[in-house]
Amino acid sequence: MTTAPTPHPYVDPSGPTVPDPHRPGFHLTAPQGWLNDPNGLCQWDGVFHLFYQYNPDAPVHNQIHWGHVTSTDLVHWRDEPIALAPSSGPDAQGCWSGVLVDDDGTPTLVYSGHTPSARPTQTCCIAVGTPELATWEKLPDNPVIDGPPPGLQVTEFRDHTVWREDGQWHQAMGSGLVGRGGALLHFLSPDLRQWTYQGPLVTADGLPTGGPFSGTTWECPDLFVLPTTEGEPWHILVFSAWDYGRTLYPLYLVGHLVDGSFIADAAPRHLDLGLRHFYAPQSFAAADGRRIQFGWAQEARPEAAVLDAGWTGVMSLPRTLTLRSDGTLAAAPVAEVDALRDGAGERLDLVEGTRRLRLTGDQLDLCAEIVLPSGSGVEFAIRASEDLREATFVRLQRADDGAARLILDRSHSRSRDAGDLDDYDLSELGGELPALIEDRVELRIIVDHSMIEVFAGGVPLTARVYPSSAEATGVEVTVLSSAKVDLVAWPMKAALRRNPEVVTS
Ligand code: FRU
Repeated sequence: MTTAPTPHPYVDPSGPTVPDPHRPGFHLTAPQGWLNDPNGLCQWDGVFHLFYQYNPDAPVHNQIHWGHVTSTDLVHWRDEPIALAPSSGPDAQGCWSGVLVDDDGTPTLVYSGHTPSARPTQTCCIAVGTPELATWEKLPDNPVIDGPPPGLQVTEFRDHTVWREDGQWHQAMGSGLVGRGGALLHFLSPDLRQWTYQGPLVTADGLPTGGPFSGTTWECPDLFVLPTTEGEPWHILVFSAWDYGRTLYPLYLVGHLVDGSFIADAAPRHLDLGLRHFYAPQSFAAADGRRIQFGWAQEARPEAAVLDAGWTGVMSLPRTLTLRSDGTLAAAPVAEVDALRDGAGERLDLVEGTRRLRLTGDQLDLCAEIVLPSGSGVEFAIRASEDLREATFVRLQRADDGAARLILDRSHSRSRDAGDLDDYDLSELGGELPALIEDRVELRIIVDHSMIEVFAGGVPLTARVYPSSAEATGVEVTVLSSAKVDLVAWPMKAALRRNPEVVTS
């Protein structure tokens, strides 16, 4: 059974049907319709491939396909034909999330087929690709795992992380055990086709205590190995905590795989302080050894505004992940992002008071070296109107006891008079930063229309904001007490060019 590209009757090849000031210029979005999780990430024969959960027909989560883009530099993406579309069989209602594995030279997708008939509603399916990853053939024998193991009372059952060990294929599927919380279920296979259940890889109630609530289901597991700065290898397990239909946030565990169990060294930690604004992340190993992660930034505006816009969902910039010696992850945009900076940039050295940058815009990269002694702080107003009635505030605060915090305040991101209020329950996002060395912290704030990505001392915070005023493009920096800011700010070039041949085929 081949998966022919589906026609895209709704796509206007000259661009989005509705010009939308909130649509990013250098973050990846779908041509039109709905985008969620990144899937099947890989670098294959030198080319980066990103697939994504996609409904080309409307900006709602329905009949999910696998959209496909390729890149040679991780920032300029090219639309490719749709890779997977729902068809009769176990994925009749959607080709849900999954991964790409290299089966001895054959690109192979392991994904969740969604059918409405059974509860829990997903199964594990396989599709095999042509060498250039252009077309995909679903196995006639799908599904290869037709549901949760008999006798297990699970909440949900979907999403896959697959690895090879001792000549066998292993996979952990996302799940939850009724009354016990999230869990990953471990299966083993000689050939990616026959799978036998081994038991839970890890369960919420087996973890060290003290972490955030991890929901009733763990979605989108991603297991990989990272060395610390001293070269000691650890297993990292990322999953997205889900609670009966509510996307909570991604969490990660650091530990070791021992005899088919993941033994966590510490309680789960937040991966991104933006919580559900960065969800369902997946990562891959680039040929140069980097561990690169993408996540989905879901919309935070009301459904009516999304339907009007005709598109929804933004892919984060690719992030390089590293592991600090204290067992916490650090994230930074890949270096390739710097190529989007336009010109020499504006410099600002500030030791007291407030200064407004000459530079304005809705596509910006702000890079600051900050000296932040105890009892000091800095504040950046971004997407700021002239009178500051509309602005998003990024704050770094250092308490008298030395503890540093990053905060993103969205409570004035959009005028309340403009209607279409977004989710103000998440108006203030933030959390602790790792201990500062010599009072210094590197802060980077990337602004791309409604998409904001902040990195403070390697801690990421993703958020969506929807200013109502087209003039909300200013940047103002304020220094409190003895802090110092050394900033370079650049406008960013747009990167996404649609490929009309593909999006209208
Ligand atoms: C996460 C998720 C996955 C699922 C996919 C469906 O956002 O719910 O668990 O496979 O999206 O699109």
